[in-house]
Amino acid sequence: MDKLLIQGGVPLSGEVRISGAKNAALPIMCAALLSKAPLRLSNVPHLRDVTTLLTLLGGMGVAVSLDEKLGLELDAGGLHSPFAPYEMVKTMRASILVLGPLLARCGEARVSLPGGCAIGQRPVDLHIKGLQAMGADIRVEHGYIIARADRLKGARIFSDLVTVTGTENLMMAACLAEGVTVIENAAREPEVVDLADCLKAMGANIEGAGTDMIRIEGVSALSGAEHRIMPDRIETGTFLVAAAATGGSVRLRGTSARILDAVVEKLREAGATITAEDDGISLCMDGPPKSVNLRTAPYPAFPTDMQAQFMALDCIARGTAVLTETIFENRFMHALELQRLGADIEISGNAAVVKGVAQLDGAAVMATDLRASASLVIAGLVARGETMIERIYHLDRGYECIEEKLSQLGARIKRVH
Ligand code: UD1
Repeated sequence: MDKLLIQGGVPLSGEVRISGAKNAALPIMCAALLSKAPLRLSNVPHLRDVTTLLTLLGGMGVAVSLDEKLGLELDAGGLHSPFAPYEMVKTMRASILVLGPLLARCGEARVSLPGGCAIGQRPVDLHIKGLQAMGADIRVEHGYIIARADRLKGARIFSDLVTVTGTENLMMAACLAEGVTVIENAAREPEVVDLADCLKAMGANIEGAGTDMIRIEGVSALSGAEHRIMPDRIETGTFLVAAAATGGSVRLRGTSARILDAVVEKLREAGATITAEDDGISLCMDGPPKSVNLRTAPYPAFPTDMQAQFMALDCIARGTAVLTETIFENRFMHALELQRLGADIEISGNAAVVKGVAQLDGAAVMATDLRASASLVIAGLVARGETMIERIYHLDRGYECIEEKLSQLGARIKRVH
């Protein structure tokens, strides 16, 4: 299994390009299932989660091809098997995003329940309830969601929790339903807006994406379209935090400060100078970071997917920080690994108290999930001596060429097999 070796202590400096967003690419690729005509996508990141989804879609009869500019074409004209097996879904929870489109297009779907995952229970009850409200007959048997509906009917759906993939699943299903669907307490994440933009290009009638109430008027069929995937705001945030933690100065291209206000705000509080540019964002850090408190919540508040990276920053900041996680119940596993590097962290329920220390010391650590891995990379970049990170397959799920990009910024990092 691959490992990452990092020699810490080098301030990051230089310029890198940010990739397309994983969390936009995955639902948008599933949107291809809604149409018989091809969907052409650009700026799709090269990630393991994307490959996993391509395999899943391929098994259903979706033809996948790459054009000369590495654009991805998905043609679901020959869709024959509305089935997502456990072996695929268990490796990637986002596979649940095929449920809504399959049911809407084929009138049936058999999709494995994702089950638990490292960062908590993560049920899909709201996806199921929403589809039932649209008239679907759904039962769960032998670990599979078995759904049927002659044609889904528009409905008012109220979700008592904000769910990102739940909103996306229901929005996609509603595009082909008969009549109007209104999703209340919808997720407002920029990736939901990107998906809605793609669906609109395919001929869907959607209003209100980006607000907490989305209105979709169903149509009988969607067409093909071309769409460019938005930049990855979590990759952007991760590189900004890495630069701030190492006292560096970086410019990130192909991204935008507008999609990560809460993160930029916290980095400024930590002492970084951040400049929003037309096609990117720059960060310059003078002196050691100041501790920042944060509380995760649905967009536009501080993203749970950036909590672990900020914990690494707070480990070496001046002062004491309280990090409160309100989205997932078990998302502090990186704390134990950061402690192995000398961090002073105390966990109490859903809060972590992080007292900044003058220095972290390199050690062997183990990645436990995607964003936890990113926090260990950041800690390794600031630690004295060598840090070896095991189980980096988590990183490959969500960060395109992370070690190449960090090397480009001067980090001493290499992958060993
Ligand atoms: C998405 C993101 C993930 C991010 C998360 C929160 C993708 C592919 N993944 O995950 O990176 O960390 O949003 O921003 O976009 N819940 C239920 N019932 C449901 C659905 C969710 O109780 O049916 C709960 C979850 O357990 C969690 C909360 O709602 O506590 C939010 O989860 P949700 O927004 O659904 O996360 P994902 O869409 O899985």
